[in-house]
Amino acid sequence: MALQLACKATSRACNKAGIAMLFGLAGEVNSTGDDQKKLDVLSNEIFIDALTNCGACAVLVSEENEDPIFVPEDKAGRFVVAFDPLDGSSNIDCNVSTGTIFAVYEKKSEKNATVSDILRTGNDILVAGYCMYGAATELVISFKGHGVHRFTLDPSLGEFVHIQAHVQLPEGGGKKIYSCNEGNSRNWDAAIKGIIGKWKDRHGDKPYAARYVGSMVSDVHRTILYGGVYLYPADAKSKHGKLRVLYEGFPMAFIMEQAGGAASCGMFKGKIQRLLDIVPETIHEKCPVVIGCKRDVEAVLEEYKIQG
Ligand code: AHG
Ligand code: MN
Ligand code: MN
Ligand code: MN
Repeated sequence: MALQLACKATSRACNKAGIAMLFGLAGEVNSTGDDQKKLDVLSNEIFIDALTNCGACAVLVSEENEDPIFVPEDKAGRFVVAFDPLDGSSNIDCNVSTGTIFAVYEKKSEKNATVSDILRTGNDILVAGYCMYGAATELVISFKGHGVHRFTLDPSLGEFVHIQAHVQLPEGGGKKIYSCNEGNSRNWDAAIKGIIGKWKDRHGDKPYAARYVGSMVSDVHRTILYGGVYLYPADAKSKHGKLRVLYEGFPMAFIMEQAGGAASCGMFKGKIQRLLDIVPETIHEKCPVVIGCKRDVEAVLEEYKIQG
């Protein structure tokens, strides 16, 4: 309930941004070096307020806060939440879709929560989801073992309406789409260069289409509904890629697997790794991301075998 309330408030803020002078920079830089936008700061306050006051949470990790937030004892509950309050913030000012991403765990510590309650494998996630602030506001959520569910915000009711149960990626992998920031390609490793090259030159067959919004929420949402693959690989400059494990990589990998897709880091620290199996050592750690239909994720992993 707290998460959906915060999503509704953030949706309103995004809708009104032009009128309420909420475009533009806030003037600070966050822990991973991003210039904060006004809406990054506002949405972060909205989520922290909702989650610290709902009585359900013990510790919060946000993209926009250097340190974990420990909920005061009188308001503390048993859940741990990692969130990206506003994803795709480079798209705010041009009115392109943004989103929120979150993952929920149950704390292990008997008494007060510690940072060890959040530095865990993605296999421990209980609930993950994202909310997309697009043409419509849409909440996509998965409680472990209960599939992926879509809810659209009805603005006249102010409520999320359940529109699809047990969402699965299209049979066979769906549309042949690759989604990545190809501007980074000169720094990619041979396998990523190789597979993208193969998708573009299919020896007379129709090539894969390139689609890249630059908001992970939108790119992943399209991948779940239409098929294909989304990649933010490691490269020569960024050995861990760009996306953060706790509030980008893990929740999206969880949802993708629950929807019948696959989620890998590709080659990371010298071996092929399933994304949810990694164990972050720090809260803002990054990891490479290759997520989407099994057909295309497996093709990336096969290319790593071919290239050695
Ligand atoms: P955020 O806006 O939360 O900092 O996330 C930005 C991420 C993600 O949304 C997006 O997919 C990716 O950065 C885009 O990166 P590039 O601009 O390097 O393509
Ligand atoms: Mn950011
Ligand atoms: Mn993000
Ligand atoms: Mn963000």
